[in-house]
Amino acid sequence: MTILDGKKISNQIKDEIAIEVASMKERGEKVPHLAAVLVGTDGASLTYVGSKVRSCKRIGFESTLHHLPSETTEKELLQLVHQLNEDPNIDGYIVQLPLPKHIDEQEVLMAVHPDKDVDGFHPTNFGKMALDMETFISATPYGIMELLRRYKVDTEGKHAVIIGRSHIVGRPISILMSQKGKAANATVTLAHSRTKNIKELTLQADIIVSALGVPHFLKADMVKTGAVIIDVGITRVEDATKEKGYYITGDVDFEAVSKKASYITPVPGGVGPMTIAMLLKNTLLARERHRKNA
Ligand code: GUN
Repeated sequence: MTILDGKKISNQIKDEIAIEVASMKERGEKVPHLAAVLVGTDGASLTYVGSKVRSCKRIGFESTLHHLPSETTEKELLQLVHQLNEDPNIDGYIVQLPLPKHIDEQEVLMAVHPDKDVDGFHPTNFGKMALDMETFISATPYGIMELLRRYKVDTEGKHAVIIGRSHIVGRPISILMSQKGKAANATVTLAHSRTKNIKELTLQADIIVSALGVPHFLKADMVKTGAVIIDVGITRVEDATKEKGYYITGDVDFEAVSKKASYITPVPGGVGPMTIAMLLKNTLLARERHRKNA
C-alpha cells in the first residue's frame, strides 16, 4: 500500500511555483496577486483561507484578505466582487464557500470575472473544463488529478466510482476522470444520496473518490482489494481531549481500508494540501495570461 502524500506533493508544487515567482521578480515583472473574500466566522473557512494566505507569502505571491462580517448584504458583497474585477493589481480571487444563507451563492459566483476566477466556479470556466478547453480547473478536482498523475496511478480503462455530486468536487472530478489524458480515461460512475446499493458499486470500483463529508462512511467491506482510495472528506469532530476541541477526519475508515487499498490518501495531509497548491497554480496561470494580454 502506498500513501498518496498530498502534503509532500503540494510542497513540491509550491517549490516549483516559488522558482517561477523568483524569476518573475528577476525579470522585473509583477508577481501574482491572489485575493480571498471571506464572509462570516465559519471555523473551517477561517482555517482554509488563513492557510491560502500563508501559502501565498511562502511562495512570494502577494495576497489580500477581505474578511467581511456575517451580516454583509449580497449587494455589499457584489460591490466588492465588482471592485476586485476592476482592480488591475489583482490577478485572481476566490470567494470562500459556504456563504451565509441570506446570500445567493450562484449570483455571487456568476459575478466573478471568468479571467479572475481561479476557483474555476464560473459557468464559463466550468463549461470550458467540461469541453476539454484550457481554463481554470477547480482546485480540489485539479489537485486529485495532479496527485494521481505524480504518483503515476494507472486510471486508463479503470472503473472509478465517485461518491458525491457537488459542484465543486464530485461533478467536476467525474468529468475530468472520464476525459482523455493522463490520470483520466476512466469509466466513471457518479453515485450520490439517491443511489441504491452503493456498496454493490464500490465493490466493483478500481478507484473510489469519496466526497461526501460523512466521517468513516467508506468501510473495508465496501472496498475491493487493491483499490485506489481518494478521501476528499474533511469533517471536524468535536473531541474535548484535543487541544483545539476537535479532530479532523475523512469519509474513509482509514485504519481498516488502508489494509486493502493499493493507494490511499490520508486525512489530513492528502487532498486538502493539494487544493491549496492548485489554487496557487491557477493564480500563476492568471498572472501569465494577464501579462500576455496587457
Ligand atoms: N469551500 C470549500 N472548498 C472551496 C474551494 O475550493 N473554494 C472556495 N472558494 N470555497 C470552498
